[in-house]
Amino acid sequence: MRAPEIIQRKRDGLALSEAEIRFFLDGYTRGDIPDYQMAAMAMAIFFRDLDDDELAVWTDAMLRSGRTLAFPEAPGPCVDKHSTGGVGDKVSFVLAPIAAAAGLTVPMISGRGLGHTGGTLDKLESIPGLRVEHSPEDFQRLVLTHGLAMVGQSADLVPADRRLYALRDVTATVACIPLIAASIMSKKLAEGLQALVLDIKVGSGAFMSTPDQARALAARMIAIGERMGVRTRVLLTDMDQPLGWAVGNTLEIREALDTLQGGGPPDLRALCLELAAEMIHLGGLRPTLTLARELAAHTLDSGAAHARFLQVIAAQGGDLTRLLPPAPCALPLPSPAAGYIAGFDTTAVGLAAVRLGAGRTRAGDPIDHAVGLVLHKKRGDAVAQGEPLLTLYAHTPDALPLLRDDLLRAIHLQDTPPEAAPLVVDRLG
Ligand code: URA
Repeated sequence: MRAPEIIQRKRDGLALSEAEIRFFLDGYTRGDIPDYQMAAMAMAIFFRDLDDDELAVWTDAMLRSGRTLAFPEAPGPCVDKHSTGGVGDKVSFVLAPIAAAAGLTVPMISGRGLGHTGGTLDKLESIPGLRVEHSPEDFQRLVLTHGLAMVGQSADLVPADRRLYALRDVTATVACIPLIAASIMSKKLAEGLQALVLDIKVGSGAFMSTPDQARALAARMIAIGERMGVRTRVLLTDMDQPLGWAVGNTLEIREALDTLQGGGPPDLRALCLELAAEMIHLGGLRPTLTLARELAAHTLDSGAAHARFLQVIAAQGGDLTRLLPPAPCALPLPSPAAGYIAGFDTTAVGLAAVRLGAGRTRAGDPIDHAVGLVLHKKRGDAVAQGEPLLTLYAHTPDALPLLRDDLLRAIHLQDTPPEAAPLVVDRLG
């Protein structure tokens, strides 16, 4: 087999055989197939797509490019959640302890923030001492002991994706549904899961801005899961406004802790419970979603999830008594007019937090865990002129004049209350 001929077949819209896909991806992993041929293949896939058979093989070959995990002695069914990323998304810190305390095993491998979205690992690192890098053996031990660990991806887990993602980033092939589906699913399935719940965000702060795009991605991911024997369910959830109130690393950990202790924003609590119920149901701990919802709520309200979070954070070296405080300058942003919050340009809100230093625009940039913002108003809320829409947390007061115009443009006011929008837009799989 020759790489140029395989690229040509895809370029001409033909389906690739299993042998061709494995030859190509295995060659890429070994370094026999160079980046320029993979770049050409990615572009051919961008225009010609992969059918479900090709996509399952492509994902499997990616998954096998490195080490895979298995938890045969796990205390409960292995189930994880993946979110496509949004603004203020601190769901994992509440959801994963609920799932683990309910009896599931959650080997959660997470990523860092890039662009306008935050990253689970960056948020966790607001907790002094906490380590997110663990050897595969340590990770296994943590998961088997606590039913949960929250760590970063080790270099030997799906190395093909690491290279391919960097290549896609510079060849305009990131926004390609089959390649996104294979990238996410290969990493998640390498965790040795029995079931997976996907939270695909939709709206102005999401990768997929329309429900149709999100449904298309969902269908491809569900097809991969089915073919690889992993029960997969997708919730499409609202990212037309930030989730919860807080955006920024230590602020989000604080909000997650409040939620674990019975407080927190209603949308965050509701989404965590809904996703946890899906995990519990899909993992087979309860036969119906209604019973799974009851178990999720009980696990949160009894304090069991909070206790599990504290246990896991301590096991990963974190000291919550020294959780970083928010940056010292609290700067309220007054509303220029009275009205109702109609919606947000959520990406712009996320980018404002990035400009404060809460996120990064290039992989590897340092971040500031203390800065961010807390919303006081969400969609549908009434606001009086001069009332604070949000508070910025920064190191110097000049952050407010710097960001005021961008933020005011990102928060849309109108004279009448907007129609209510659902938090869970759709459920698939
Ligand atoms: N996240 C990933 O892990 N991969 C993609 O391709 C897109 C988002």
